[in-house]
Amino acid sequence: MRGRIPDSFIDELLARVDIVDVIERRVPLKKAGREWTACCPFHDERTPSFYVSPAKQFFHCFGCGAHGSAVKFLMDYERLEFPDAVEELAQSVGMTVPREGGGRDERPREDKTDLYALLDAAARWYQDQLPGNAEAQAYCRRRGLDADTVARFRLGWAPAGYDGVIKALGGSERRMQLLNEAGMVASSERGSKYDRFRERLMFPILDRRGRVIAFGGRVLSAEQSPKYLNSPETPLFHKGRELFALWQVKQANTQLQRIVVVEGYMDVIALHQAGLPIAVATLGTATTPEHTEVLFRAAPDVVFCFDGDRAGRAAAWKALESALPRLRDGRQAYFLFLPDGEDPDSLVRKEGKDGFEQRIRQATPLSDYFFSELSRDVDMASLDGRARLAERARPLIARLPDGAFRDLMAQELERRSGARAVLPAEPSAHRAVQRPVAVQRSLVRSAIALLLAQPGVADEVERPYRFLRLDKPGVGLLAELLDLARARPGINPAMLVEHFAERPEYPSLQKLMAAMSVGEPEAQRIEFHEALARMEQQAIALRREALHAKMREGALDSAEKAELRELLAARHPPPAAAP
Ligand code: UTP
Ligand code: MN
Repeated sequence: MRGRIPDSFIDELLARVDIVDVIERRVPLKKAGREWTACCPFHDERTPSFYVSPAKQFFHCFGCGAHGSAVKFLMDYERLEFPDAVEELAQSVGMTVPREGGGRDERPREDKTDLYALLDAAARWYQDQLPGNAEAQAYCRRRGLDADTVARFRLGWAPAGYDGVIKALGGSERRMQLLNEAGMVASSERGSKYDRFRERLMFPILDRRGRVIAFGGRVLSAEQSPKYLNSPETPLFHKGRELFALWQVKQANTQLQRIVVVEGYMDVIALHQAGLPIAVATLGTATTPEHTEVLFRAAPDVVFCFDGDRAGRAAAWKALESALPRLRDGRQAYFLFLPDGEDPDSLVRKEGKDGFEQRIRQATPLSDYFFSELSRDVDMASLDGRARLAERARPLIARLPDGAFRDLMAQELERRSGARAVLPAEPSAHRAVQRPVAVQRSLVRSAIALLLAQPGVADEVERPYRFLRLDKPGVGLLAELLDLARARPGINPAMLVEHFAERPEYPSLQKLMAAMSVGEPEAQRIEFHEALARMEQQAIALRREALHAKMREGALDSAEKAELRELLAARHPPPAAAP
């Protein structure tokens, strides 16, 4: 039993961490005045009612009422118990949690500590059974599993018989109750308990902290079924958010650029053993949005790997849909379809690490898969067909978070369908005030991204830059990039970005450069000039609004009146829609 955490430590900890930091690492936040805001992670919503106050170190959702400190946030969001949330926060700021002598720590959460201990003991017991069973050993050999892999994944053997686990671990009423809660036993109609897993090769499922929370068990012969039996949902195990081998992936990589999602336990294990410890699997379920968030928190690039058959394609589209709302700038999803009759296990054995790595590198970017799938049965040569494509794509693109990638997808849709990619408006009473800001911000970002894609377009921009009137973040940076590109004809995107290597903007510039995976140069060039023109238009519109507002209060001086007249005269139509 762990001792109680002293209150003084909690105070010190909460003084040290910044709640904005803690939340931002998990939920992208947007600045809103003195606070930060997001769509609430604790209930479904389309317009943000979740607020984080740096001054108060407090979060609050006006939609569902969730609120609290950084510790409370971690408990709710990561589903951690209080001591674990404290532990995690402390770790993030390099503090160690002190403990007062045991005793008072007898709250219900102790149940879970016991559950973890019990499941760990079960995994150890299965591991101990493996060497003694010749059939299971032969099976592992036949599947090419080496001793190191068996140990790393803690593979084990659930022997025949109905009470192996019960005898080994269920010594008291309390322990039987725990076995039951952990999903390790099943009940017959008459109410007697028996081992759930029998004569199966056991794959422990670990959580992100390496604790055993469930099992999958595979039969040895094709005649038995089901092929895999998994633990039921328990207080520790929620299939929809766990990923097999995520812990092993994190152990093997401190910095992970890419994570690969495959379908089966054996696929994961084969890839790890082949020297690609970057694979995880869902647990016999479709990819959920929760999975996708966990994946993107692990690595900026997520490669979804599926069979090339119809079922695989359906699963891939589901994964795409679950990824869309999570694709903020800097995150990229790819799709890897395997040849008929192969799975990652069989392929990596045939083609080796290098071969499979090559497939990963050649995976299809989400944007390509998205448009090819949506155009699949559409006649793109006809007006009707292009309209159909636009109709299908718009609501999906609208699910992307605001940012350069969303802009680029909208532009790409425009290019392919010839239709203006007007996105459905979000149903919000505050739209009129919120919308322009968001649009401007993404405009500046897309202008930068488009410039980075082909710095040569800088030559076509006249000085003085009239878009500089738009007083928004990033505008100065855009001007600086333009100056640089104009001063160095022939500079390529990477060189341009490297000029900023020592600057805080460097990571965002890299991301913006990386975001340019769709579109063709000519369309992008036009889009770039349109973006600049729109920025200028917006600057004028904003200034006009401000002057109007001041006029209604009767506070315009004569210089301002002249300026307003001039602005009204300069009102030209918005840039023409692309043909
Ligand atoms: P596969 O049948 O493709 O499994 O199912 P696999 O990992 O390639 O297994 P081997 O190579 O035949 O040993 C993919 C995943 O679907 C889930 C499991 O998570 C499995 O790894 N599954 C499959 C089940 O949960 N139950 C089943 O009966 C079958
Ligand atoms: Mn397989």
